[in-house]
Amino acid sequence: MAEMIQPAMVPKVKLYTGEEIPCVGMGTFGSDRFTPEQVSNAVAGAIRCGYRMFDCAACYGNEDQIGEVFHAAFEEGVVERKDLFIMTKVWNDMHERVEESCRKSIQDLQCDYIDLFFIHWPFPNYHAPGCDVDSRNPDSRPFSVEEFMNTYRQCEELVRKGLIRHIGISNMTIPKMEAVLPLMEIMPSACESEMHVCFQQKEIFDYLTEHKIQPIGFMPLGSPQRPERDKCPEDVADLQTPEMQEIAKAHGCHPALIALKWAHQRGQIPIPFSVHEAEYVSNLKAMIEDPLTEEEMQKIATLERNNRLVKGQVFLWEGAKDWHDLWDEEGKIVTL
Ligand SMILES: NC(=O)c1ccc[n+]([C@@H]2O[C@H](COP(=O)([O-])OP(=O)(O)OC[C@H]3O[C@@H](n4cnc5c(N)ncnc54)[C@H](OP(=O)(O)O)[C@@H]3O)[C@@H](O)[C@H]2O)c1
Repeated sequence: MAEMIQPAMVPKVKLYTGEEIPCVGMGTFGSDRFTPEQVSNAVAGAIRCGYRMFDCAACYGNEDQIGEVFHAAFEEGVVERKDLFIMTKVWNDMHERVEESCRKSIQDLQCDYIDLFFIHWPFPNYHAPGCDVDSRNPDSRPFSVEEFMNTYRQCEELVRKGLIRHIGISNMTIPKMEAVLPLMEIMPSACESEMHVCFQQKEIFDYLTEHKIQPIGFMPLGSPQRPERDKCPEDVADLQTPEMQEIAKAHGCHPALIALKWAHQRGQIPIPFSVHEAEYVSNLKAMIEDPLTEEEMQKIATLERNNRLVKGQVFLWEGAKDWHDLWDEEGKIVTL
């Protein structure tokens, strides 16, 4: 029987709505490495060891298996629905049919409502799962404020209907947020962005916290096992940097746990993925013991390498220069 960490012991983060949620969640993207059953088995184990927050997505292709696991946990009295914080996302091909996507996720996840519902990417550009990074969809187009707000308005309607409790945005840039935040009637509670020690996204982090939008950091460990197609020769392996190795040695733990402590102490919610019990238990436990010192936090702050791992090439439109166009690096929305 795995170690149980009392959920009450896990620190909480307060959303602008006043709701308190766990400071760490479990990722559920099995990619091409793990079957839906392997991922859902890990979710079953994670609930029993004390996780209460799960980061799901329609496009991960495993929501119905995870739903079986939630259902069993409710039936067996392991946990009540109200004690879980379930997040999911509408995929790019459903931006015109958000309610349909949301209802399908609720049905698959067997969870009655979604706690935090994200717009996974800020444009409807679609690609087949697992496709090559060089593939282009001729229907892809640049970000449009109007199209995004049309999708966002549907999310606001879902809050009013009680299907979702909070709205989330993901893979955003500051120029895009500047354009859309003033148009919103219900502010987003959180933004999911890639954030790890060699890609800290300080500007976005600061912008989000200033706007009371909780940063949720995906790939918090630098996704060491991401598919080959997402690897570039210049990528830095966060956990193998001498600084992370050294700090881990001082704490007598794996550098993965140092990355998670850093994320938590900085103020973002990390959502690490693992199907291995020893790993996911230690990832949760890292939140409740042996914090990093101020000096260690400062040392990790120096590890920024601008090392974006999810470049998003597959979402590019014809005429786009390269993946940098997706991230508005010049400070304005790239529309050509
Ligand atoms: N919003 C978005 O667009 C978006 C994009 C990407 C990801 N996400 C979310 O973020 C989650 C996390 O991202 P990710 O899975 O790519 O990357 P990650 O969490 O940074 O890395 C996961 C890998 O790290 C290893 N690991 C986990 N815990 C460990 C530990 N304690 N010690 C040593 N190694 C450990 C595991 O490798 P082994 O399997 O080899 O043990 C695992 O496969 C996803 O599952 C998904 O929910 C969201």
